[in-house]
Amino acid sequence: MEKSFILHMLTTAKNLSPFDVNMAMDAGWVSAIPYTNVEASEVKGLIQDVIFSRSPKGLNRTGIFIGGRDSKQAKDMLKIAKNSMFSPFQVSVFADPSGAFTTAAGMVAAVEQELDKKFNTSFEGKDLLVLGGTGPVGQVASVLAAQAGANVKIIGRQLDKAQRIADLCNEEFGEGKIQITAGADSDKTEYIKTADVVFSTGAAGIELLNTEHISSASQLKVAADINAIPPSGISGLDPFHNGKAITGSTSGAVGLGALAIGNIKYKTQSRLLTQMIESNEPVYLHFEHAFEVAREIIKSIK
Ligand SMILES: NC(=O)c1ccc[n+]([C@@H]2O[C@H](COP(=O)([O-])OP(=O)(O)OC[C@H]3O[C@@H](n4cnc5c(N)ncnc54)[C@H](OP(=O)(O)O)[C@@H]3O)[C@@H](O)[C@H]2O)c1
Repeated sequence: MEKSFILHMLTTAKNLSPFDVNMAMDAGWVSAIPYTNVEASEVKGLIQDVIFSRSPKGLNRTGIFIGGRDSKQAKDMLKIAKNSMFSPFQVSVFADPSGAFTTAAGMVAAVEQELDKKFNTSFEGKDLLVLGGTGPVGQVASVLAAQAGANVKIIGRQLDKAQRIADLCNEEFGEGKIQITAGADSDKTEYIKTADVVFSTGAAGIELLNTEHISSASQLKVAADINAIPPSGISGLDPFHNGKAITGSTSGAVGLGALAIGNIKYKTQSRLLTQMIESNEPVYLHFEHAFEVAREIIKSIK
C-alpha cells in the first residue's frame, strides 16, 4: 500500500496557524500534524523521529513545515532540520513563519512589476521606506527589496529597535551583502519627501501614512499596504488597490493593497507546498524560494 502524504507542522507558538493547515491540505497533503511550543533544541530529535520511521520511498511523501512568529528562529530551525538529516533519510522542509516569507515575497514581486510596467524601472537605486518594518513581514520584505537593489530604510517607533532589526536583516538574512538602514517613525515626514517606494507592514488596523504624507511624497512611484483591516496603513489606498492611482498622490503614485498582495501570497504558499510533494529530491524552502515563485506567478497573471 502507498504511504499517505504526511506534513509534520512545527510551531514555536501555542497554536498552529489554521490558515497554514488549510493551505497544506488544499495543496495535497493528506495529514497535517501539529507540534506546538516547539523549541529550537527539540527540532533535531523530532526530525530524526520522522525520518527513521519511513523507507526512502515513504520519505518522498513526508514533509516538515516550520511556522511560528519569528523569522530568524524559523530560518535557524530550517537549518537545524536540514542538518539533522542525511542521505537517503531526507525530507523536504518549508519555513513560512506567520506567513511572512510568502507575504513579503508576494508584496515585493507585485511592487517590482508595478515599477516595471508603470515607470519602466526597477528597485535598483530606489529609496524605499518600510513602515512598521520591524515585524516578520517587514524584515523579509526589506531583505528581498535590498537584494533587488533598493536603498531600504526600516522605520519603527523606537530607533534602537529598528536599528537592531536592520542589523539582523543585513547580517543574518542578507549574509553581509546588503546595507539596510534604520529610521524613527517620528522622522517619516522628512523621509517620505524623497521616497520612491513605500511598504506599509505595520500591525493591522494602524494608519502609518496620512493624507499630508502622501501629498508631500513628490518622488513616490509605488506604495504597498499589507494590512487588510481598516483603517488602511496608507491613506488613499484600500485593500482592493491593484495598481490604481493613490488618492491624493501628487506624483502619480500607484498602490497595491492587502487583497491584491494576499492573492500572490496565497498562490506562492500553495505552489511551494505542492513543490514539496512533487519534487523527487528533498527541497529546503524559505523566503528566497518564495520570491522566485512569486515573480513567476505575477508574470503569469498580468
Ligand atoms: N495580506 C496578507 O496576506 C497578510 C499576511 C500576513 C500578514 N499580513 C499583515 O501584515 C502586517 C505585518 O505583519 P507582521 O506579523 O509582520 O506584523 P507585527 O509584527 O504584528 O507588527 C509589525 C510592526 O508594527 C509596529 N506596530 C505595532 N503596533 C503599533 C502601533 N500601535 N502603532 C504603530 N506601529 C505599531 C511594530 O513596530 P515598532 O514597535 O518597531 O514600531 C511591529 O514590529 C499585519 O498588518 C498583518 O495583518 C497580511
